[in-house]
Amino acid sequence: MYDVIVLGAGPAGYVAAEHAGAKGKKVLLVEPDKHLGGVCLNRGCIPTKAFLNSAKLYDHALHAGVFGVEVKGAAFSYGVMKARTEKVQDTLRGGIQAMMKKNKVEVATGAGVIVNKNQVKVGDKTYDGANLLICTGSRPAVPPIPGLAGNPKAMDSTGLLGADSLAESVVVIGGGVIGIEFACFHALLGKKVTVLEMLPQICGVTDREIAAVIQKKLESKGAVIHTGAKVDSVDGGTVRFTDKAGKACSVAGDRILVSTGRAVNTEGIGLENLNLDVDRRGIKVNERAETSLPGVYAAGDVTGRFQLAHYASRQSTVAVNNMFGRPDICRESAIPAVIYTDPEAAAVGLTEDMAKEKGLKVRAVKMPLGASGRFLAETEGERGFVKAVLGERGELVGMHVVGPYAGEMMGAACVMIENEMRARDIQEIVFPHPTVAEIMKEIMFS
Ligand code: NAI
Repeated sequence: MYDVIVLGAGPAGYVAAEHAGAKGKKVLLVEPDKHLGGVCLNRGCIPTKAFLNSAKLYDHALHAGVFGVEVKGAAFSYGVMKARTEKVQDTLRGGIQAMMKKNKVEVATGAGVIVNKNQVKVGDKTYDGANLLICTGSRPAVPPIPGLAGNPKAMDSTGLLGADSLAESVVVIGGGVIGIEFACFHALLGKKVTVLEMLPQICGVTDREIAAVIQKKLESKGAVIHTGAKVDSVDGGTVRFTDKAGKACSVAGDRILVSTGRAVNTEGIGLENLNLDVDRRGIKVNERAETSLPGVYAAGDVTGRFQLAHYASRQSTVAVNNMFGRPDICRESAIPAVIYTDPEAAAVGLTEDMAKEKGLKVRAVKMPLGASGRFLAETEGERGFVKAVLGERGELVGMHVVGPYAGEMMGAACVMIENEMRARDIQEIVFPHPTVAEIMKEIMFS
C-alpha cells in the first residue's frame, strides 16, 4: 500500500512525489512517457527557452555593430540548436531521476487508469494507495477550423518542436504566449511569420502596453500580426481569415502552428470511476488542492486554473502537505508569468484592467527602463518599462515589466506582493546597482 499514488510526472507530479518522498512517505509515480518532466521539460518551457536563446544570440550577433563588435558572416545551424536543446533536456531529466531515487519514489511507466480512489491500474498491474493525486496536465487543443484536422502542414507546439528542419514561413493561429514565443523564434531567425489572433491584442491578459511593445518589436523583425482576425478555413498551407475590418484575406506558409489554447487531460484516466466535480476548465479543487472526494487531490494544468509550471509545482506541494497533516493553502495573488520573447516580458499580480474589473481602486505608476544605468549601458534602441499597480493603502498588487531580465526580476516582485508590501516599505530596500531591477524600487517614489 502506497501512502500516495501520483498520476503524471510533470512539474506538478514529480515535485509532489519528491516532496512526499522527502517526508518519508511511500510514493508511486505513474507516467506513460519514457521521460519524466512532463510538457514543461519535454515539449514546452525548457526546449522553447533553449531554442529562443539561440535565436536571440543570432539576432544579437547581427546587430552587435552598435556595441563596437562586428560579427562577420553570422550564421546559425538549426541542427546544432536542436542537439543542444536535447542535451539541456537530458541533463534536467537526469536531475529528476536522481531526485526520485534520492527520495525513494517508485516510478511505474505506463498509462495509469483510476479503478477507484484507492486503486490505479498500470498495464495489468493494480496498485493500492491511501491517497491519490491527479496531475495529468494538458495538451494542445485543436479548434474546429475546417481543413485543420489531418492537415500535414498544420501542427501544434509539440509538432513544431519535434521538426527536423526550420520552415521558411510559418502562419501562427492564436497569438497567445505559445504562439508569440514561436513567432519570435522564427522572426529572429529571419523567417516569414504571420500571426492571426482573434482578440484585440496578442499575449492574452498581459498588460496592454506590454503586449503593444512585444508586437511592435516582432513587426520590426518582419512579422505580420493580425489582431481581431477570424480564421475561417485552412487548405494545405493556406489560411483564409477575415481581418478586423471585415475583409476576406488569405496567407500561405510552409507550416501552420496551431496555438489556440490547451485542453485538460481528463480522458482515458478512469475519471468516470470517481464521482468527482469537474467543470469545463478541469477537475475542481479548493485552495487546499482537494477535489470533491476526500483523499483525492489534483494539481497543475488538469485543474484548469493557471497553466503554468511553477503554479503546478506549488499546488501539488500544497496537496501533499494537506494529505500528510500540514495544513496549507495555495495563494493566488502573486503567481508570476513570463513571456520569453525579445524583449522579455514578465508580470505578477493584477494589471490595471484586472483591478478595475474587481472594482478595486488602484493607481498605476510607470517608469522607462532608460532610467537604469545598466539598461542604457547594455542596450541600444530598445524600449522597456516597469509598471507597478498600487492599491489604496499604497500596497503593491501588480508588477509588470517589459525589457531584458524581466523574468529574472519577477521573483523579487512576488516576494513584495506575497508580503503585502507598500510602496514606502519597498523604498527602504537596498537594491544592487547598477541593475535593471532597481527601477522596481525607483518607481515606488513616484
Ligand atoms: P493561450 O490561451 O495563452 O492563447 C491562445 C490564443 O489563441 C488566445 O489569445 C486566443 O484568443 C487565440 N485563439 C483561440 N482560437 C483562435 C482562433 N480560432 N483563431 C485565432 N486565434 C484564436 O494559449 P496558448 O498560447 O496555447 O498557451 C497555453 C497555456 O500555456 C497558457 O495558459 C500559457 O500561459 C501557458 N504557457 C506559458 C508560457 C510561459 O509562461 N512562458 C509559455 C507557453 C505557454
